[in-house]
Amino acid sequence: MAAVASPVVTFDLKKNPYAVIPAEIIQVIEESPLIRTLRLKPARPIPFHTGQFIELTIPGIGEGPFTPSSSHFVSDILDVTIMKTGFVTEYVHRAKVGDIVGLRGPFGSRYPIEKFEGKDVLILGGGCGLAPLRSLFLTLLHESHKYKSITFLAGAKSPKDCIYKDEATEWRKHPNVTFRRTVDAVPPGESWEEQVGVATVLLKDITIDPTDNPAVVCGPPIMMKYGTLELLKYGYKEENIYLSMEKKMYCGFGQCRHCVMGKYYACKDGPVFTYAQIKDEEDIWE
Ligand SMILES: Cc1cc2nc3c(=O)[nH]c(=O)nc-3n(C[C@H](O)[C@H](O)[C@H](O)COP(=O)(O)OP(=O)(O)OC[C@H]3O[C@@H](n4cnc5c(N)ncnc54)[C@H](O)[C@@H]3O)c2cc1C
Ligand code: FES
Repeated sequence: MAAVASPVVTFDLKKNPYAVIPAEIIQVIEESPLIRTLRLKPARPIPFHTGQFIELTIPGIGEGPFTPSSSHFVSDILDVTIMKTGFVTEYVHRAKVGDIVGLRGPFGSRYPIEKFEGKDVLILGGGCGLAPLRSLFLTLLHESHKYKSITFLAGAKSPKDCIYKDEATEWRKHPNVTFRRTVDAVPPGESWEEQVGVATVLLKDITIDPTDNPAVVCGPPIMMKYGTLELLKYGYKEENIYLSMEKKMYCGFGQCRHCVMGKYYACKDGPVFTYAQIKDEEDIWE
């Protein structure tokens, strides 16, 4: 993919939500056979709140919604972790250092981290759903003294599908942080010394009092569904379970109706919802 020289666009997002900010790929991290993280340097900082998403454009090809996977305390360099699933993401996986992509946004709702202060924060995710959760986790780590504890539980299909592998050791050094992983299965020839089983098996060992603590879930729809049901069974309140709803989106700001979820637009009312908000809407897990 050839680099495309683009002018620096300085429109106010509120006035022009289609404004595209050019961003240079400064690093590519191959996380797994299907997932890679692009480290991007936008032509100007893009302040965002953790949980919000951006639209990433491959010039001449198309665009798609992705949640930054980096801390919201850093706005001049953004990480996006992207799974190869189709047309646009296939091109993303061919991109190389020095290429220019476009970014629009940020859009949508955020994780209300001020409500997490003083609490035991539980984060549960799987697959590429770990992308927004890494952003949340790194944002919380930045001021980890504000939270009683942070427990990050991560699932993947197999050891080779685990992402953010190199960061686990660092994360585990933080005094009030627990980071645990599981894989669905260990195929012959791969080695693994941590838990085996689907992501929800990690919930069996938690000792957090669910009465008034928040839990945040993101992952494939089936994992979101069963993760939420397990948390409810464990005693978490519906209003304390936060879900990132990655529905089909186009415009990103409430114009095209592609992301309608009952009475909500996933792009502008979400993507972050509490389970209490959306539990009665149709087909939330599809
Ligand atoms: C708010 C939000 C945040 C997201 N964050 C990330 C992220 O951080 N990392 C990441 O890898 N993906 C993320 N996604 C999903 C990502 O947008 C899609 O995988 C991507 O747009 C697919 O584009 P494509 O052209 O490659 O696929 P297409 O060729 O359009 O489709 C290929 C397959 O992907 C499915 N698909 C397409 N769009 C979406 C979508 N929006 N959500 C779920 N499945 C879709 C299609 O149904 C089809 O099965 C996010 C989606 C939303 C709505
Ligand atoms: S993506 Fe267009 S209305 Fe939500």
